[in-house]
Amino acid sequence: MDFGNYNSSIHLYSCSAPAASHHMIPHSTPENDFWTAAGWGSSGAQAGRISSPSYPEDPSENCQEDFEYDDCPFEFNDSDESDCCSSITDSIRGHVYEDGLRYHAYHAGKYAYPNDENEQRREEVKHTMSMMLCDGQSFLAPVEEALEDGGQVLDLGTGTGIWPMQLAEEYPDAVITGVDLSPIQPSFVPENVRFFVDDIEDEWVDPENKYDYIHLRFALHTLKDRNAIQKASQEMREAGFEDVTEIHQEAALGLWPADKKLRLCGLFWRTAVMDGLKGLCSRPFQAIGLTPTQIELFLADVRKAVMDGSFHTYFPLTTVYGRKPFDA
Ligand SMILES: C[S@@+](CC[C@H](N)C(=O)[O-])C[C@H]1O[C@@H](n2cnc3c(N)ncnc32)[C@H](O)[C@@H]1O
Repeated sequence: MDFGNYNSSIHLYSCSAPAASHHMIPHSTPENDFWTAAGWGSSGAQAGRISSPSYPEDPSENCQEDFEYDDCPFEFNDSDESDCCSSITDSIRGHVYEDGLRYHAYHAGKYAYPNDENEQRREEVKHTMSMMLCDGQSFLAPVEEALEDGGQVLDLGTGTGIWPMQLAEEYPDAVITGVDLSPIQPSFVPENVRFFVDDIEDEWVDPENKYDYIHLRFALHTLKDRNAIQKASQEMREAGFEDVTEIHQEAALGLWPADKKLRLCGLFWRTAVMDGLKGLCSRPFQAIGLTPTQIELFLADVRKAVMDGSFHTYFPLTTVYGRKPFDA
């Protein structure tokens, strides 16, 4: 992939935003009412609790015999392996460091991008941009009633947990669970929110029909099928979902739009892209043989291109939602 021009640098991100959900759609078919995939829409195996005021803080709950830790080629910062539970808890909650960037430790190496402060700030900038683009709405699927009635919500690849926390405040009767490989969510959260460390591509063990709304945003790119956002509505229909809806938006990169709101979104987006280049490129480019110095030299050109306002560059953002049949 050539990052030396606009389209290809965008392509990196739009591949990262759109893509993948063939694993999730079949899982969500019989069990859940609404499902949203947003390339910017259940988990089960509760590998480790991140934070949940509703549950006691007992690390022994997270003790599992089958934790995959040895396969990881990277260094961990966990310290005490003297007993099973503290070791497992550390390795779930710990991090891996590489080239000045910090990555998740649970199923280490699975997600290519960092989870450090810089990445978290970027995620929050993206959240703000996405909220603005959606005129302040936290979701586009017609689930308001379910949320008002105390519905169960699952947020896959929840990141910093900003979306569940905002939703929890908007719908205090809803119960929102966020799942991520990284334990980067805050400890003090609204009491109707809980977070778990888990791999959403593992087998789901939640009971059928537990969730009223399953949401995934900016995380399809992390899963196996990188083109899944393009296929999402078709796959949802084939899986039996009804009222499948696809919404297309354009997120400008930079200050070129005449419209004030889109211009501000463009500023947020550009900030998120500029601040993320090193983190987004480091592991993938090293995997194809580039050294950190070569990557930096290359990114110098990408940065110039991103800042060049003479191109009207935008990211296509797709949201897909659907509902399982009422009688299912
Ligand atoms: C780009 S961030 C999006 C965060 C959040 N959805 C948002 O919109 O603010 C993608 C997140 O997906 C998580 N992720 C990637 N693969 C995952 C997996 N297999 N299981 C759980 N989380 C995963 C990453 O750790 C990361 O936090």
